[in-house]
Amino acid sequence: MSDTSQHLFIRACFQQPVERTPVWMMRQAGRYLPEYRAVRKDHDFITMCKTPDLATEVTLQPIDIVGVDAAILFSDILVIPEAMGMELQFIPGKGPNFPKPIRDAAMLKTLKRIDAEKDLRYVLDAIRQVKQSLDGRVPLIGFSGAPWTLATYMIEGSGSKNYKYPKQWAYARPDLLHSLMEKLSKAVSDYCIAKIDAGAEAIQLFDTWAGILSREGFREFALPYVKQIIETIRRPGIPIIYFAKGAMIWQEDLLSCGADVIGVDWTANLQDVRRAAGNRVALQGNLDPTALYAPPEKIRQLVKDMLAQYGQGYGHIANLGHGILPDIPVPHAQEFVRAVKEESSRWKQTN
Ligand code: CP3
Repeated sequence: MSDTSQHLFIRACFQQPVERTPVWMMRQAGRYLPEYRAVRKDHDFITMCKTPDLATEVTLQPIDIVGVDAAILFSDILVIPEAMGMELQFIPGKGPNFPKPIRDAAMLKTLKRIDAEKDLRYVLDAIRQVKQSLDGRVPLIGFSGAPWTLATYMIEGSGSKNYKYPKQWAYARPDLLHSLMEKLSKAVSDYCIAKIDAGAEAIQLFDTWAGILSREGFREFALPYVKQIIETIRRPGIPIIYFAKGAMIWQEDLLSCGADVIGVDWTANLQDVRRAAGNRVALQGNLDPTALYAPPEKIRQLVKDMLAQYGQGYGHIANLGHGILPDIPVPHAQEFVRAVKEESSRWKQTN
């Protein structure tokens, strides 16, 4: 199998020279693609995650159709709580749901320690199959939810506007929350290591709900566990990306967390973050996902602005500031990717 360690996505993660800026999109394997919807029509989402043939097919779709520079394994962050013993449903139009959320010490006790090779074997099989199909064309990113974001769904039971239950635990039962975070850190670390062993060439930790914590809460419940995971899963040549949405106000905490790459949401200015980062980390992002509703000419201008914000030098991976939305026209996603490739080649050649 071809070696992708010198691929431009991996080089950019380690701030090494690249001939142009690499680009991929969070949630790139999804409903905005008619080809995804065609597969999804015949299978429910969890079945797709659990069937390596189907997971492989949809993982590859954005590589072929949109031309991104990295693949991200089609799966979901909530496979970990499911492997720990929680019943998981995806309700059409509503999203993920745990009918029996973790609300007390007794329920917390029921969570099993996972054996990734056994309990999440289907994910590892999908990685092996995707790698074979990719045959070195682009690197494969494996991902996990960060403990805090996994905990929000496990305690709340579903997505929510104000996450009353997990936040209540942060103040009323910090002992239980820490105990859950410890269990999750162990599970996430084991899972990420198993993914790397199966062939994942980069790992992204998604902390989608970091921004609902207070600054102190973020420092007590989210950050230390992420740091511990990063230390545990670090392997030579495998970049680690931490994306904490809504946490850019605590950028110094992010920049010093030990990740190779910080995912930047669309609320921040890349130039400001880069100035603060120095050469400590690479930056990934950060076009507002709703900007892809703009006409293609405008998308190109916004891409130019984003590249100019990062400026010269290496260590930028172009992406959206969060996942691509399901009703974005495919030509707009294609224009985003094409514009990054063309404009950054020009930029890198003339600077
Ligand atoms: O990036 C990729 O293309 C890889 C696939 C991927 C999915 N989920 C597929 C998916 C990844 C990286 C995720 C991560 C994920 N899952 C996160 C963190 C990233 C983020 O967007 O904040 C979160 C919070 C989840 C939990 C989750 N899964 C939610 C809230 C939903 C419902 C909302 C929605 O977008 O429908 C899902 C379902 C889900 N995960 C879908 C996909 C393609 C849609 C399923 C369908 O086809 O109906």
